[in-house]
Amino acid sequence: MNTPASPRPGLREVGPYDSPQLDVAVRLNTNECPLPLPVGFSDDLAAAVRELPLNRYPDGQMLALREALAARTGHPMDGVWTANGSNEILTQLLTAYGGAGRRAALFEPTYLLHRRLCWLTQTEIVERRLDPPFEIGDDSVAWAGASDAHVVFVCSPNNPTGNTQPLDAIRSLASTSDGLVIVDEAYVEFGGETSLPLVADHPNVVVVRTFSKAFALAGARIGYVLASPGVIEDLERVRLPYHMSALTQSAGLTALRHAEEAAAGLDAIRAERDRIVRALSGIDGVTVFASQANFVLFQPPGDAKELHRGLLDRGVLIRDLTEVVPNGLRVTAGTTHEVDLFLKALEEVLT
Ligand SMILES: Cc1ncc(COP(=O)(O)O)c(C=O)c1O
Repeated sequence: MNTPASPRPGLREVGPYDSPQLDVAVRLNTNECPLPLPVGFSDDLAAAVRELPLNRYPDGQMLALREALAARTGHPMDGVWTANGSNEILTQLLTAYGGAGRRAALFEPTYLLHRRLCWLTQTEIVERRLDPPFEIGDDSVAWAGASDAHVVFVCSPNNPTGNTQPLDAIRSLASTSDGLVIVDEAYVEFGGETSLPLVADHPNVVVVRTFSKAFALAGARIGYVLASPGVIEDLERVRLPYHMSALTQSAGLTALRHAEEAAAGLDAIRAERDRIVRALSGIDGVTVFASQANFVLFQPPGDAKELHRGLLDRGVLIRDLTEVVPNGLRVTAGTTHEVDLFLKALEEVLT
């Protein structure tokens, strides 16, 4: 009998990347949008899907979707590219600009997947820890420049801390570093300034966004990047043929037709976020971090893991981030009802 095949070295030391999806009443752990999709979206999508020639391969250039995104963002079409979620965009960027023998700079704490995708693409990581308020300052810019990284990750607003990075710092990173500066703007619709204006003068800056949060379309898996045309040409070299299905492209186009309605719901989410910040700030011993995103990072007075479990026992799932921020927990701004249930459960556990 043959022995089982061995995977690449180190593969089995790493677990799958999962955010637990438990069947509980209140799920506030993955920064999804709690709002229903705009009225008419599903009917429009169903009508569009009925017309799709699914016996044929889809448009491998995603031209209609890229054109619609160019129109919405005001960015030239030859600088727009789309993929299955911003995670796939990040993977394509690392495949093109990272890889074996190349290096990426990360500012921790940040979105865990940046690190994970570096590992996947065999890109070496150099990292610098930022202390609260987690801002990239001059010393961090100098560090990134000196690191000779081929890729520099910035996340703004940052997951899990919620703060945005100053545009000047990102501009300095782009000037100081020869690497590709990836600005992950998954939460930009909730607050903060976009780095998009930097792209024109700094062709090493790319802005990555998603339909998973503000567009309430996490299930459709749509992400995009706004960059200089040269970067898009490089992504064309590494993408799989027909990587975005006709169904996904159609969902993206339909979502853009309803973009204004989706955007109209964002104020309600910001209001819930701010309510969470106010409520947490009023609890003795809780450290809460200001957020421009749709979630809030906090540190409870006692053991965060115990609080996490106590909330779960009451049907409320939030994100345990103790591995990245000491005693840190992150809660997504849900509906008013969900936030009520979170705050009630929190009070019960803490008193
Ligand atoms: C900072 C950041 N970037 C990207 C993503 C992933 O987005 P997508 O669903 O488009 O892959 C997330 C999701 O949580 C995120 O927090």
